Amino acid sequence: MPQKIILDVDTGIDDSLAMLYLLASPEAELLGIAATAGNVPAAQVAANTLAVLDLGRAPEIEVALGAAEPLAVPLRTTEDTHGLQGLGYAVLPLSPRALSARSAAQLWVELARAHPGEAIGLCTGPLTNLALALRIEPELPRLLRRLVIMGGAFNHPGNTTPTNEWNVHVDPEAAKEVFDAFSAAPPDRRPVVCALDVTETIEMRTEHLEQLARAAGSTPHEPIGPADLLEWRSAATNPIVRYLTDAVRFYFDFHHQYELGYLAHMHDPFAAAVALDPALATTRPATVDVELTGTLTRATTVADWAGMWGREPNADIVIGADPALFFERLVTRVGALARRLYPEQP
Ligand code: RIB
Ligand code: CA
Repeated sequence: MPQKIILDVDTGIDDSLAMLYLLASPEAELLGIAATAGNVPAAQVAANTLAVLDLGRAPEIEVALGAAEPLAVPLRTTEDTHGLQGLGYAVLPLSPRALSARSAAQLWVELARAHPGEAIGLCTGPLTNLALALRIEPELPRLLRRLVIMGGAFNHPGNTTPTNEWNVHVDPEAAKEVFDAFSAAPPDRRPVVCALDVTETIEMRTEHLEQLARAAGSTPHEPIGPADLLEWRSAATNPIVRYLTDAVRFYFDFHHQYELGYLAHMHDPFAAAVALDPALATTRPATVDVELTGTLTRATTVADWAGMWGREPNADIVIGADPALFFERLVTRVGALARRLYPEQP
């Protein structure tokens, strides 16, 4: 059954893999994409998103520019994590595709209204534009069929401060407005939250990249490692494999630099896989709120699992997944997309 997706990204390296995963998934129908400031500024997110659509030889898919700043604080970006352009060591050509005439918030509202009860919202960046959309259309929780969010950290350390996760850190006011708005949603409309608790178990290793290159029929074999020179760039014959190698290698280097291992957490592609197939995740309901005034804890997501606050659950938090099953799906689907779009010359 086709899954209609409204995607909201801050393209970035793992956002781009989430996009390629969706383009590689026949059941995914991308209705439109909101470009949200986060990893890099909104205009760069939009440019990256258009360029990844070109790489994926996607049909015309609307990309709408989001707000330049978070709701209440100045924008903070993270080029050290995702590279100057936001795509690691990779550089994609500027796309000739035009941006949508409407804003990201309008895209959310008008697509949800056009497909009542059918569209799945998938957020892999800060929640700024979804919050702005909810201010325009408070009925969004009932108009969307499902909402999947990559963000937050619950019984798990943060990746930006000791307690908070990047997407919520960038715009905690927006995250709070989103979770508050879904407090009145019926149980089957609660956001599925892919937080660091599980996304940091989704560890891409070099063998996953090598398997993907083989699935794409790409040559030569390029075993990457922490000793590679910064200026090394992939010579893979398949453009998608070449892009992924240069993009993800930056992410490997970043994780290695912070002593997490020579690996890359695939936060966003995991959320995309869950949006298409919720059976990939085990969830538990909780009431989620966001700390806004803590001196040390601002932007921390807090889960009340036991109803101590006397408030109904407003989220289904992912508490378990099968990383091997996810990577089998990612490698198979994106490898097949790469082979199909760029067949090796005989
Ligand atoms: O904390 C991880 C999240 O922050 C991912 O979505 C990554 O792309 C960044 O946006
Ligand atoms: Ca992201």
